[in-house]
Amino acid sequence: MILVVGATGELGSLIIRKLLDKGVAVRVLVRSASNYEVLVEVGAEPAFGDLKNPSSLEAACLGVDAVVTTATATARGGDDTIESVDLKGNRNLVRAADKAGVGRFVFVSALGASSDSQMPLLRAKATTEEELRHSSMSWTILQPDVFMDRLVPLVVGVPVLEDRPVTLVGEGSRCHSFVAMRDVAAYAVVAATRHESESRTLAVGGPEPVSWRDIVHAFSHELGKEVPIHMVDVGESIPTLPEFATSLLVALETYDSPLDMTELARMYGITPTNLAAFVHDFAAAHHAKVP
Ligand SMILES: NC(=O)c1ccc[n+]([C@@H]2O[C@H](COP(=O)([O-])OP(=O)(O)OC[C@H]3O[C@@H](n4cnc5c(N)ncnc54)[C@H](OP(=O)(O)O)[C@@H]3O)[C@@H](O)[C@H]2O)c1
Repeated sequence: MILVVGATGELGSLIIRKLLDKGVAVRVLVRSASNYEVLVEVGAEPAFGDLKNPSSLEAACLGVDAVVTTATATARGGDDTIESVDLKGNRNLVRAADKAGVGRFVFVSALGASSDSQMPLLRAKATTEEELRHSSMSWTILQPDVFMDRLVPLVVGVPVLEDRPVTLVGEGSRCHSFVAMRDVAAYAVVAATRHESESRTLAVGGPEPVSWRDIVHAFSHELGKEVPIHMVDVGESIPTLPEFATSLLVALETYDSPLDMTELARMYGITPTNLAAFVHDFAAAHHAKVP
């Protein structure tokens, strides 16, 4: 039995479907007000609880072989905060799992997690990583690079489909190993189900480092049209993007994050989604392919 926490989120639901497809029994930690029914319909067993409530976690962990958590408060509000969920909540979960005798724990952290980070989320991720390293479970910490699925459509895909110029911060030439969420889900499933005794921290990226200019070029190529680029300086606002996306674009202009995934992808039996395939699927999903 594998317990998935963060199950109603985008990544968590991909993980659940992959686990169920493999015939693995799945329990999901859900809140009664969340949209969990669809997970039960596809075969997951619900355990009601909240990361802020330690006793609910102890009950959810009973009889579980492995826990996978993707949970985060970044897109939530109210009393779900980085402090209460990403920091204290994930700590509650690690302790509850350890106490219940869970054998394996898979934590979806993030590339750049560090106690020195300026970003509270990355500091919270680093704290959970440390908690896990000091537990008696075997663990896998996945540190994904930026997901393709949210930022790439927002910054490039949607403007291109709507025949608007793409706005980039700075030169747009820094390279990052953007990764498809479905690939992160595949790594998490292998980490939760393979019987490896070794505990490992794994940076997870796509198969090729790409820049924003490469991404614009990939859309231009896929759709067969010129894509105008509007460059803005760091500090300028981008009225067409939400604040978090602009902040992320600014941050991504300050470093490169190329990852060589060849060995890990081979070991885990995963064929990583490249940019061209992601863009093709995005265009097809929006019926935007030029004949
Ligand atoms: N986006 C990126 O580029 C990126 C890069 C690297 C790593 N990551 C990491 O990837 C992970 C997956 O993100 P995602 O996009 O799937 O997130 P998401 O769609 O926002 O889902 C968040 C999940 O956390 C759950 N949650 C929040 N507060 C909770 C609480 N108090 N108790 C129990 N569950 C709670 C939510 O449940 P409810 O539905 O009940 O609220 C939901 O299932 C995150 O850990 C994120 O930090 C993301």
